[in-house]
Amino acid sequence: MNTSTLSDHVTIEPSILYFGTPVVLLTTENEDGSVNLAPMSSAWALGRTVVLGLGREGQTARNLGSRPDLVISLPGPGQWRAVERLAPLTGRHPVPPTKAHGCRYEPDKFTASGLRPEPSHLVRPPRVAECPLQLEARAEHVRLDVSGDHLIVETRVHKVHADPRLLVPGSHHVDPAAWSPLIYNFRHYFGLGPELGHSYRTRTPRDAGAAEAV
Ligand SMILES: Cc1cc2nc3c(=O)[nH]c(=O)nc-3n(C[C@H](O)[C@H](O)[C@H](O)COP(=O)(O)O)c2cc1C
Repeated sequence: MNTSTLSDHVTIEPSILYFGTPVVLLTTENEDGSVNLAPMSSAWALGRTVVLGLGREGQTARNLGSRPDLVISLPGPGQWRAVERLAPLTGRHPVPPTKAHGCRYEPDKFTASGLRPEPSHLVRPPRVAECPLQLEARAEHVRLDVSGDHLIVETRVHKVHADPRLLVPGSHHVDPAAWSPLIYNFRHYFGLGPELGHSYRTRTPRDAGAAEAV
């Protein structure tokens, strides 16, 4: 291998390791039956399981510990400002001292964000109407992570709602060219760039030119 073009890496001590994952909005049910809405980006899917990483002091973590129903709504890049309006808010009162400086209590985060609730089919918390993909789910396993600061929540998805404009016509496949997640990349928001190619396992292949570009 020719190593002359490789850069010399340096070791660093970054304060965060948010290397670019999709933003999701979680709706959960508070003790009094009202709704909490919170953005997060430590989420990934494996089959019908979606794993979430949540600060243990937040209202969302508290809710999922005792009321497991939730909706995982996925905003697109156009919703980033609404997501950021939620960023300094918590549904927990009083605000825990571990929350970031400037964080304040907000009992009605839908109104505060300008987003609209839409009733779910199977679970009590509502979906976020503006989000093109919405997953009704239930938390099945909740445990502390190795640091003790976060909860790792394994959820099972029971119903998937999609904006029909995202679908390959006549199928249940999300068209990857139509859907763009909102990416949280070291605390900055991005959409997707153009397609580079596709996996050999895709069921929604596009033109051969894109595949050749891999
Ligand atoms: C884009 C974005 C991504 C975030 N990702 C996470 C995350 O992955 N896990 C987490 O615990 N908090 C995350 N947060 C912070 C929570 O949204 C924040 O702590 C909020 O106060 C939680 O609300 P709650 O206390 O009502 O649950 C994120 C915030 C933003 C704006």
